[in-house]
Amino acid sequence: MSWSPSMHRMLLFAFICLLFHHTQCYSWKTAFLKQQVDHFSFANQDTYAQRYLVNSTYWKRGGGPIFFYTGNEGDIEWFAQNTGFMWDIAEEFGAMLIFAEHRYYGQSLPYGNKSYSDAKYLGYLTSEQALADFAELLAYVKSTNSGAAESPVIAFGGSYGGMLAAWMRIKYPHIITGAIAASAPILQFTGLTPCDAFNRVVTADFSSASAECAETIRKSWKALSKILVNDEGKEWIRTHWNLCVPLKGTEDVANLKDWLTNVWTNLAMVNYPYPANFLAPLPAYPVKAVCEHLTNSTLDDHSLLDEIFKGLSVYANFTGQTQCLDVSQQADQSLGDMGWDFQACTEMVMPMCGDGINDMFEAQPWNLEKYAEKCLKKWKVNPRPLMAPLIYGGRNISSSSNIVFSNGLLDPWSTGGVTKSLSDSLIAIIIPEGAHHLDLRAADPNDPPSVIKAREIEKQFISKWISSTKRDRKEIPKSFIVG
Ligand SMILES: *[C@@H]1O[C@H](CO)[C@@H](O)[C@H](O)[C@H]1NC(C)=O
Ligand SMILES: *[C@@H]1O[C@H](CO)[C@@H](O)[C@H](O)[C@H]1NC(C)=O
Ligand SMILES: *[C@@H]1O[C@H](CO)[C@@H](O)[C@H](O)[C@H]1NC(C)=O
Ligand SMILES: *[C@@H]1O[C@H](CO)[C@@H](O)[C@H](O)[C@H]1NC(C)=O
Ligand SMILES: *[C@@H]1O[C@H](CO)[C@@H](O)[C@H](O)[C@H]1NC(C)=O
Repeated sequence: MSWSPSMHRMLLFAFICLLFHHTQCYSWKTAFLKQQVDHFSFANQDTYAQRYLVNSTYWKRGGGPIFFYTGNEGDIEWFAQNTGFMWDIAEEFGAMLIFAEHRYYGQSLPYGNKSYSDAKYLGYLTSEQALADFAELLAYVKSTNSGAAESPVIAFGGSYGGMLAAWMRIKYPHIITGAIAASAPILQFTGLTPCDAFNRVVTADFSSASAECAETIRKSWKALSKILVNDEGKEWIRTHWNLCVPLKGTEDVANLKDWLTNVWTNLAMVNYPYPANFLAPLPAYPVKAVCEHLTNSTLDDHSLLDEIFKGLSVYANFTGQTQCLDVSQQADQSLGDMGWDFQACTEMVMPMCGDGINDMFEAQPWNLEKYAEKCLKKWKVNPRPLMAPLIYGGRNISSSSNIVFSNGLLDPWSTGGVTKSLSDSLIAIIIPEGAHHLDLRAADPNDPPSVIKAREIEKQFISKWISSTKRDRKEIPKSFIVG
C-alpha cells in the first residue's frame, strides 16, 4: 500500500488541461535568467538558467500590469497553454504575461541531468528557493523593460502553483500586488485539515452519482483480496481486466490497488462539466459515466469485479485503443512525478488517510514513521511536516491581503483550500460545479454559470488591487517628529 502523495495526479491535470483546448495554442518568447542555485547561503556559488515565457503584445508600456504565473511541478509550457484565463483578460488589462518555470522542472534544471541523482544536488528543490527565483526574475524584468518599474504584479497559479501564488503575496508583498490562487491546498498540512477529508470528497463525487456506485467500489477491495490470494485468481484478473503483465507477489497486488485508487481519484479531480479530450477522451462529468456501469453492489465477487472493469474502462479505455492495462505506475515516472515525490518527502507533507467506512477506499491510517522511512530510503531525506505551516503561516495569514482563493467543490483538493474568506481582502470563491482549477482555464462555451461568475469576481479584485496601488501612494500620513 502506498498512499503515495506523489501527486502525479497534479501533473496529470496539466496534461489533461492541455488537451481541453488543444485547438487553442498560445505563443510567447522564451528566455532564460541566470539564478543562484542557493539564494539563502553564501556557501554555494553555483548558478543555473531558469526558463520563463513572455508575451508583451498587449502590455501597456508605462504602468500596465504584469500577470505572473508562478510555475508549478511541470514543464512551464503546459501551464502557459492551460491557463487561458490569463490570456483571455490580458488585452483588457493591458497586461504583460510572464510564465516562470519552477526550478527542477521542465528545462530549469540546476544541475542538468545530475539534478535528480543525489540529495546533494536535489536539496535546492524547495518552495522557498522557487519563490526567491520568482522575486529575482520580477526584479530583473522590471529593471530591464522600460516602463515596467511601476507595473503592479498579479500572481496567478493553480494547484501547487496556486499555493506559490498565495505564498508569493504573503512573503513578497512589496513585489506582488495581489494573487489569484486557484485550487491551492495551502491547508493540506499536518494539523490543519483532517487527513480523511480528501478521500471523503472523492467518495462523495461517486456516491452523488449513485449510492450503489460508491458501495460497489468499496466492496471491490475485499473482492480483489479474496480472488488474488492464489494464482488461479491472479490469472482470472489478468484475463478479465486485460492486464499487460501478470500479477505475481503481494507487491503486485498492492500496486494494482494503488493504481485503481489513483483512477478513482483522478476521475474525481477531472470531473469537469464538459467533455475532455486527453490521452483518453473523457465525457462530461466522467464520474457519472463510470457510475453507469457500477449499479449492483450485491453481485458475487467475480461479477462485481467485471462491473468494476467496465467502470474503469471509461477512464482507461474510452477510445477503445488501449491494448492492455498497464498498472505498473513505477515504470514511467516522469520528472514532474519524481520532483513532486521529493517535495512531498521534504516540506510538502500532505497527510492523507481513510477508514474505509466514511470513504470508499481500504482503511489507510496516516503513519508518519512509515512515510519517513520510505522517504529516507528513496531520497535520503527526512520529511519536515511542520515546516510549511510554520514558514507560510498555516491558517494564520490574516496579516496578509489581496489574495483570492478559488475552489471547486467537486475537487478533492478543495478540502485543503481556503474555502471561507479570512478578511475583506483574503477572499474565498466557491464554485459548486467546479473540478480542479476550472476557473484558470480559457472561457469555454460549456462553462457552467458559476465559473463564469467566479472569473468576473476575480477580475473585479484584480482591478481593485491595481487601482489601490495608485491610491496608496497619496494616502501616506505625515511623519510624527517627536522629542
Ligand atoms: C502574444 O499573444 C498574442 C495573443 O495570443 C499573439 O497574437 C501574439 O502573437 C503573441 N506574441 C508573441 C511574441 O508570441
Ligand atoms: C549527462 O550530460 C552529459 C553532458 O551533456 C553527458 O555527457 C552524459 O552522458 C549525460 N548523462 C546521462 C546519464 O544522461
Ligand atoms: C444484483 O445482483 C444480485 C445477485 O446477482 C441480484 O439478486 C439482484 O437482483 C441484483 N439487483 C439488481 C437491482 O439488479
Ligand atoms: C479497449 O476497448 C477495445 C474495444 O472495445 C477492446 O477491444 C480492448 O480489449 C479494450 N482494452 C482493454 C485494455 O480492455
Ligand atoms: C496559528 O495560531 C494559533 C493560535 O494562535 C496557534 O495555536 C497555531 O500554532 C498557529 N499556527 C501556525 C501554523 O503558526
